[in-house]
Amino acid sequence: MAPEIGALAPRADFPVLAANPGLHYLDSAATSQKPASVIRAIARYYETSNANPHRGAYKLAAAATEAYHEARGRIARFLGVTDADTLIFTRGTTEALNLIAAAWGRANVKRGDRIVVTRLEHHANFVPWQVLANETGAEFVIAELNADGTLDMDRLRSLVTPRTRVLAFGHVSNALGTVNPVHELVAVAHEVGALAVCDGAQSAPHLSVGIDSLGVDAYAFSGHKMLGPMGVGGLVMRRELLEAMPPYQMGGDMISYVGDATTTWNVLPHKFEAGTPNVEGPVGLAAACDYLTALGMEKVHQHEQALMRLASQRLAAIPGVTVLGPSPEARSGVVSFTLEGVHPHDLSQLLDADGVCVRAGHHCAQPLMRALNVHATTRASFYVYNGSADVEALVAGVESARRRMVG
Ligand code: ALA
Repeated sequence: MAPEIGALAPRADFPVLAANPGLHYLDSAATSQKPASVIRAIARYYETSNANPHRGAYKLAAAATEAYHEARGRIARFLGVTDADTLIFTRGTTEALNLIAAAWGRANVKRGDRIVVTRLEHHANFVPWQVLANETGAEFVIAELNADGTLDMDRLRSLVTPRTRVLAFGHVSNALGTVNPVHELVAVAHEVGALAVCDGAQSAPHLSVGIDSLGVDAYAFSGHKMLGPMGVGGLVMRRELLEAMPPYQMGGDMISYVGDATTTWNVLPHKFEAGTPNVEGPVGLAAACDYLTALGMEKVHQHEQALMRLASQRLAAIPGVTVLGPSPEARSGVVSFTLEGVHPHDLSQLLDADGVCVRAGHHCAQPLMRALNVHATTRASFYVYNGSADVEALVAGVESARRRMVG
């Protein structure tokens, strides 16, 4: 028997897990559970400091402004961003990617240009670029994969021509867990002067990303996948690009002066944060960053790797199971698989009856599913509160579903 792997973070820290001792939560790639410290930070903000930031001259408004500002600094430090004002808060990765495609894209992409995305992309890093291409007359090109679900870098290099304005890629695939070679991708983009856009939704929660050192022009992430609340995430983009591009939305706080005929814009980050901001989100996310820092991101990564390897090995040994994607060396804490004769939706419902939560479906990656020649997969994803007991429950559930459905 393999030695037991205990959870890295105590289940007791997570109210949902503490209240449901039999729950095996293996869907953190969709959203993570929240530690009590995050929930408390949000409650404390509302109990002590709530007002509309950047507006009132009274002390309570100053406290709200300070909470918002301070949270941005802590999140930027956690993500390895030196210039905190280049971290724009958004609703999450999806809004951040839409912001770039709409604001930077409309100002910089024209007919005859080329936009390259990869076959691995989540719809959020695929559809905004496809729509931009269709609107502007730019060419939309998809970089295909090797048979194991890694990027075919030779083919990709040949697609990124001098006409290419954007190379958009995920750091880590949400559907397969493939970890992409970011530095190499950035070099390919920059060789032709293209914008290197990185979807970090599945890397910020799991790796010590150090955004500045990645060299990307833009990086998008979501707070709710990294122990923070839903409704907050961000775009980190090079200052000169943010300063040069037009705003995304217009309204309060993002203006410097509104004339009768024209308007000038506020400085960063306010230029891209129109309207009353979400303050509780950054406050909660900063507490989540503190929680992850205390665990240590290197340990978080190693822990997930150990669980992913164990799950891959145990699932692959079940007759009829195919584990998709690259070998564990090139994969993050995700195991996407099919069980012959059982639809992923049926499998996930059977697993739910055993207290095992997994995602089944196309994982918002239909172009990838087409290339894999499947409609859907079952996906288990691991995080700090999981241990080998969760893997064993998953394996036992899949074995039992196979006995019942296949015989
Ligand atoms: N993008 C999230 C996932 O992969 C929702 O499940």
